[in-house]
Amino acid sequence: MPTIRAAILGFGTVGEGIYRILNERKKEIEEQTGYTIEVVSILVRDTKKERIPTPGVLVTDDIRDVFAQPQLDLVFEAIVGEEPAYAYLSEAISKGYDVITANKAMFAVHGPALLDQAQIAGVEIGFEATTAGGVPIIRTVKNLLAGDRIQKIQGILNGTSNFILTKMRQDEVSFKEALKEAQVLGYAEADPTDDIGGKDAFRKLMILSQLAFGKQADWETIEMRGIDQVTLEEVLDAGRCGLRYRHIAEITIDETGNLSGSVGPVLVGASHPFYGIDGVDNSIILNTDYLGALTLTGPGAGMYPTGNAMVNDYIQIIGTRKNELISN
Ligand code: NAP
Ligand code: HSE
Repeated sequence: MPTIRAAILGFGTVGEGIYRILNERKKEIEEQTGYTIEVVSILVRDTKKERIPTPGVLVTDDIRDVFAQPQLDLVFEAIVGEEPAYAYLSEAISKGYDVITANKAMFAVHGPALLDQAQIAGVEIGFEATTAGGVPIIRTVKNLLAGDRIQKIQGILNGTSNFILTKMRQDEVSFKEALKEAQVLGYAEADPTDDIGGKDAFRKLMILSQLAFGKQADWETIEMRGIDQVTLEEVLDAGRCGLRYRHIAEITIDETGNLSGSVGPVLVGASHPFYGIDGVDNSIILNTDYLGALTLTGPGAGMYPTGNAMVNDYIQIIGTRKNELISN
C-alpha cells in the first residue's frame, strides 16, 4: 500500500487528537483511502514536556528538521496564532505539500493568500477544523455554493462561550469556575481572552464570510462583544423569564453585495433554534435561496471532534488526488 508521510505542527489538544485518531482508526482510514499514513515528525515549542508516546516519530522544536525530512506529503497544523503558522504553511505549500489547519486566528487573516498560493502550487488546503470544531460546516457551504446562494449565516461559533453559559445556567456556577472547566476540558484556547471576548467567534464568522460570499466584511464595521460581561445573576434572571443567553455571530449579504453583521450575547426564547443548544456544541443556520434555513449542530471544540475534522480533510484530499489521477 502506498504511504503518505505527514508532519504534525503542534501537539497540544488538537495535534494529539489527530495522532490518536490516525492510530485508532488506522485500518478504516487505510481501507477508505487505499493509503497508509505515517506521521514522521511532530513540531512543538518545548521538547521536554511530557507527552503520549509517539514511537519512531521525530519530535522537534525546529521547523527546519520537519522540512529537512525526505518525501513529506502533508502537513497538519495545530499551533497557536498567526505567526509562525502562516510562514510554516506558506513554506509547506511552496514545497508542494498539502496542508490541513485548525488555526483560525491565522486562517481568518491569511486564508485567502494561502488558498491563492495553493492553487498556483497545485496543492490542497483543508480548513474544516478552523470553524465550529467537529461540525462539517466548511464542507457544507462548499457543496451548497455549487447550486445555491447563501444570504445569511447565523451561528453559535465558540464552544467555550456556550459551555460557560450552559454551566452557569444549569449548575449555577460562577463565570470563572465554568471557564476553568472549559480550560481543563481543552475547549478554551491557552489564552482564553478571544474565546470569552468574542474575537474567536468573529474570526470564524470571517472565514465563513470569505467562503460563502467571496469576501470578508470590513472588520471594523462588525460590532463584537463577548460573554465576559454576562453575570451569573443575569443568566439566572433570564432563565426565570424563560430566556437563555446565547453567543451569536451573524452576517448577511444584501442585494447590492453589502455585508452587515454582529457578534455578541443575545437572549433567546424557547422558539429560537439556538435555545436548546447546550454545552460545547456549536450550531449554524444557513439561509439560502433554495433551501430556506439549513441548521447544522455538533461539538464545537475538543480533542476528538477537532482531530476528526482534520482527519476527514485528509481523507477528502486523498479522494481529490485519486480523482485527479483518474482524469489525467
Ligand atoms: P494547545 O493545546 O495550546 O497546543 C498548541 C501546540 O502547539 C502545543 O503542542 C505547542 O507546543 C505548539 N506550539 C505553539 N506555538 C508553537 C510554535 N510557535 N512553534 C512550535 N510549536 C508551537 O492548542 P490546541 O487547543 O491544540 O489548539 C491548536 C490550534 O487549533 C489553535 O490554533 C486553536 O485555535 C485551534 N483549534 C483548537 C480547538 C480546540 O478544541 N482546542 C478546536 C479548533 C481549533 P508545546 O506543547 O511545546 O507548548
Ligand atoms: N476555543 C475554541 C472554542 C476552540 O471554544 O470554540 C474551537 O475552535
